[in-house]
Amino acid sequence: MAEMQIGLIGLGTMGAMLAMNIADHGFSVAVYNRTISKTDAFIKDAGTLALKLKACKDLTALVAAIERPRNIILMVPAGEAVDQQIAQLLPLLEPDDMIIDAGNANFHDTQRRAADMQKAGRPYLGIGVSGGAEGARFGPSIMGGGNKKDWDRVAHILSAISAKYDGIPCATWMGDGGAGHFVKTVHNGIEYADMQLIAESYGVMRDGMGMDAAACGAVFDGWNQGLLKSYLIEISARVSQATDPKTGRPVLDIILDRAGQKGTGRWTVIESQMLGSPVPVIEAAVGARNMSAERDLRLAGAAVFDVPERAISTDELTHDDLEQALIAGKIMCYAQGFELLAKAGNNYGWTLPMPEIAEVWREGCIIRSAMLNDMSAALRQDPKRNLVLAPLFQNLVAANLPGLRKTTLAAQRACLPVPALSAALAYFDTLTTERTTANMLQAQRDYFGAHSFERIDAEGAHHGPWHGQHLNG
Ligand code: 6PG
Repeated sequence: MAEMQIGLIGLGTMGAMLAMNIADHGFSVAVYNRTISKTDAFIKDAGTLALKLKACKDLTALVAAIERPRNIILMVPAGEAVDQQIAQLLPLLEPDDMIIDAGNANFHDTQRRAADMQKAGRPYLGIGVSGGAEGARFGPSIMGGGNKKDWDRVAHILSAISAKYDGIPCATWMGDGGAGHFVKTVHNGIEYADMQLIAESYGVMRDGMGMDAAACGAVFDGWNQGLLKSYLIEISARVSQATDPKTGRPVLDIILDRAGQKGTGRWTVIESQMLGSPVPVIEAAVGARNMSAERDLRLAGAAVFDVPERAISTDELTHDDLEQALIAGKIMCYAQGFELLAKAGNNYGWTLPMPEIAEVWREGCIIRSAMLNDMSAALRQDPKRNLVLAPLFQNLVAANLPGLRKTTLAAQRACLPVPALSAALAYFDTLTTERTTANMLQAQRDYFGAHSFERIDAEGAHHGPWHGQHLNG
């Protein structure tokens, strides 16, 4: 009997948690997973929630179990698996039935799929879901994309299962097609940068100040009481204080310094390059992950060159300076992320709801933090203005910049790599430079390629005196 309110395909960790979350909010869910044993184990683990779940052994059974018009969530790995799943599902569906891709899709794929579905007159949503397994289970942040009327059809379910900030659901429609997945991509780019900034502050404490992991954790705990209050600082404190049961050593000390990545941070950087929207802090973070993977190269480098002792004294740098550096770095990174969102909106024809993006990130997602509330207030005043220049942030930037400068100086003097913090400082210094050195670039371009340049004292395209000489040899 077609009695279940929604369907869900893919019972990996995120899919299973999301299905339980939906059931927990009183909605009945038909579930299907390619490997049947996984479905059985899932139902067994669901306890009393199993009353709201129906395990389906194949797609036909799943489709038959859902009430019309059907809403079916896909939680399968991003990429080809999504296309394959859609191709298998479509012949079984009726025209009004809707597929909702809730995986970490590349937004270009979502744009393509949404356009194909639109042509076929079928509803389709691509939604970004953030918050890891715990978020999926107890309240993620949800960034929706697709036709607004299709979003409205399931908004009550998505809002119910989402995280709440002061009672406000963290589930928002961002725009047509791939808008939701684009916002999720930028979320992840910021996630990479936020994590890298914290990791660099940990490096300054560990290698520069000679602090052990627990002491670093205590500092993070302290920062989590102030402006930096956020999920990522909180978990950084927790992981710093954890002990490895096998060796009794701090867990951090036994983890290999080679970071993985599924690629969404890289997508942010690629898109920023395509749109000409600078995100140097995010680029530095993605680059740092790539460098971390080059372990053999790093070992070779460490063996070839004498690196001086990497000590930083407390006279040179304090924990307060470091906290300031993180605050300033964080503002730069978010300013870049929101600039990218604004440019993408113009390019793809979305009216991205800038303050609401900050709001949907206030709870449930990995980058949730106290500062996002102020960011949403600043974006409400002017959604187009760079956050660094927003009256709400100007004073904060000015107050915390000395710490950022001191930290990068001290780290560089001590040969400690702080690529994201340095990129944040360079971004600020560029942002506040009236006359940069790009006049030199323009002169060089004109010299070797006759690309022309603009003059400061006249309109139009001009060439240098070298141009004729160059061409005449
Ligand atoms: C989230 C996270 C999540 C992310 C994974 C893997 O918002 O819940 O962003 O979606 O994709 O944690 O990220 P990596 O790229 O670091 O593997």
